[in-house]
Amino acid sequence: MHESVLLTESIDYLNLNQSSIVVDCTLGYGGHSSHILKKISHGFLYAFDQDSEAIKHAKLKLQAIANNYEIINTNFVNIKEEITKRINQVDGILFDLGVSSPQLDETQRGFSFHKNAKLDMRMNQNQKLTAYDVVNNYSLNQLIKIIKEYGEEKYASSIAKGIINSRKIKPIETTLELADIIKQNVPEKYRRTTHPARKTFQAIRIEVNDELNVFEKALKDSLDLIKVGGRICVITFHSLEDRICKQIFKEVSSIPKQLQNLPLIPDEYQPKFKIIANIKPSDAEIKHNNRSRSARLRVIERSR
Ligand SMILES: C[S@@+](CC[C@H](N)C(=O)[O-])C[C@H]1O[C@@H](n2cnc3c(N)ncnc32)[C@H](O)[C@@H]1O
Repeated sequence: MHESVLLTESIDYLNLNQSSIVVDCTLGYGGHSSHILKKISHGFLYAFDQDSEAIKHAKLKLQAIANNYEIINTNFVNIKEEITKRINQVDGILFDLGVSSPQLDETQRGFSFHKNAKLDMRMNQNQKLTAYDVVNNYSLNQLIKIIKEYGEEKYASSIAKGIINSRKIKPIETTLELADIIKQNVPEKYRRTTHPARKTFQAIRIEVNDELNVFEKALKDSLDLIKVGGRICVITFHSLEDRICKQIFKEVSSIPKQLQNLPLIPDEYQPKFKIIANIKPSDAEIKHNNRSRSARLRVIERSR
């Protein structure tokens, strides 16, 4: 079961009315989408997901609630192209990033370092690049770069060297083999504080799904799709995603630096957006759902 994070808060901040047109970029198991549908009896919901398995489950949930929605089975990086084919602008856009609990729990998807599976980590099962390719074909420098940048892992170099040495003997096939190699290539005391494979697995997942580039493009494109008065809500789960969101929101909600000292700011330089919220889950939510501990919700509204 997937427990939606910051559910009440994100739905409230979308500020919906019965006729709202909404895009849920990350349908998942339909938690947020089903709540959105309950609020927009005369509106419409477009819901994206690139995972056919998640869509199968979400369909069952949504069709029991309403029929004013369309599921778009593609990467949300295509949001602009897909939405403008259908409608000019929308009232609300939601991103609830990352993987869902069922994706993590399904052993064969290869996302988890606790369960033995082939190295995969693709959210879209039709995509070519898998975690196996990254682990077995990337150069030492490429591995160091992604483990350092996407995993923020201080032992990136020794982990990458460990991977290279190990694959000289035989290809690294499974999640547990990889987790073991990581463990052997970090200091003893690091093994005890946190699971030593967590950051490297995050890095490989981000690389396989090109998560940061995709999110940055989609969020920028979303700004063009929002009507005046409409809102974008973004739920992130780690600092790399959050940084992208924070920077983009800051840029579009402030007056350009070089103009800030002018006595009068020309109309065309007035920001088009204003920041509405930046919140974390309550202590009660974190206690109830541990997955929410690193989540953050940022909300922006188009003002002109
Ligand atoms: C955290 S889950 C969303 C859960 C959902 N809000 C709910 O309450 O059930 C994220 C979902 O977004 C999908 N996803 C992540 N990145 C995507 C992308 N770039 N394009 C399309 N779907 C994506 C994943 O496949 C996953 O199903």
